[in-house]
Amino acid sequence: MKTVLITGASSGIGEGLAKSWADDGWQVIACGRDRQRLDALEQYHGRISGRVFDITDANACQQALADCAADLVILCAGTCEYMDQGVIDAASVERVMATNFMGPVNCLAALQSRLTPGCRVVLVSSMAHWLHFPRAEAYGASKAAVTWFARCLRLEWERKGIAVTVVFPGFVDTPLTQKNDFAMPGLVSVEEAVRAIRRGVAKGKAEIAFPQGFGLVLRALGALPAFAQRALLRRMVRP
Ligand SMILES: NC(=O)c1ccc[n+]([C@@H]2O[C@H](COP(=O)([O-])OP(=O)(O)OC[C@H]3O[C@@H](n4cnc5c(N)ncnc54)[C@H](OP(=O)(O)O)[C@@H]3O)[C@@H](O)[C@H]2O)c1
Repeated sequence: MKTVLITGASSGIGEGLAKSWADDGWQVIACGRDRQRLDALEQYHGRISGRVFDITDANACQQALADCAADLVILCAGTCEYMDQGVIDAASVERVMATNFMGPVNCLAALQSRLTPGCRVVLVSSMAHWLHFPRAEAYGASKAAVTWFARCLRLEWERKGIAVTVVFPGFVDTPLTQKNDFAMPGLVSVEEAVRAIRRGVAKGKAEIAFPQGFGLVLRALGALPAFAQRALLRRMVRP
């Protein structure tokens, strides 16, 4: 039986992925901080076992993942805090970077010696860093960092037979985005996100971006000259 380890499995996209892989006969190691939600996942399927730890704590990651071996690792845990009016709250930026960047790094550092040829590591980034959106200073930077880290690591680990995939979701309807107070073009359901990620992983893709239409629009805007991008993005700055 194959095993998938998923961080951020207590909610949203990670929870959807955990249920989907368990339904398909995989053993699922479901990670998060919320014991109750992980208990509910264990109730959902006997093949799911929960692990409670905070990914920002390197020692906790080492302890929680010390005995873990998995064919597939999905690093999905993440958080989002926007900056308002250009006021820098260093503690907020630190929280976002600690969770979205150091979190996956801590997990991979803890797991690396037990990853064997043939396994795949999937890091969930975001389309949020494809353009320099106002208010996304911390979130965009954290996801840009994760993408950079994963793309460099891929070159090193492919020689060991370990594949690295980066996922770029657009907007997905989860507790993370349900607090947003702005229009979310191309919003997809967790089920659609799970299908897109699973399809890409099954095909062995190095990069998975969805939804396609929204991704194409962002790519096209990202190809504009810098001054044109700035003129466009300036309109999104809140008065
Ligand atoms: N939703 C979107 O539109 C969207 C778009 C692009 C990228 N993403 C990325 O997709 C991933 C999943 O997001 P989501 O929308 O499914 O969010 P979500 O529903 O809020 O779930 C976030 C998950 O991350 C876990 N988590 C957060 N901080 C943690 C920490 N310090 N230690 C351990 N676990 C932690 C949470 O676990 P606990 O609650 O148990 O702490 C929860 O399971 C994130 O990386 C997010 O940035 C989402």
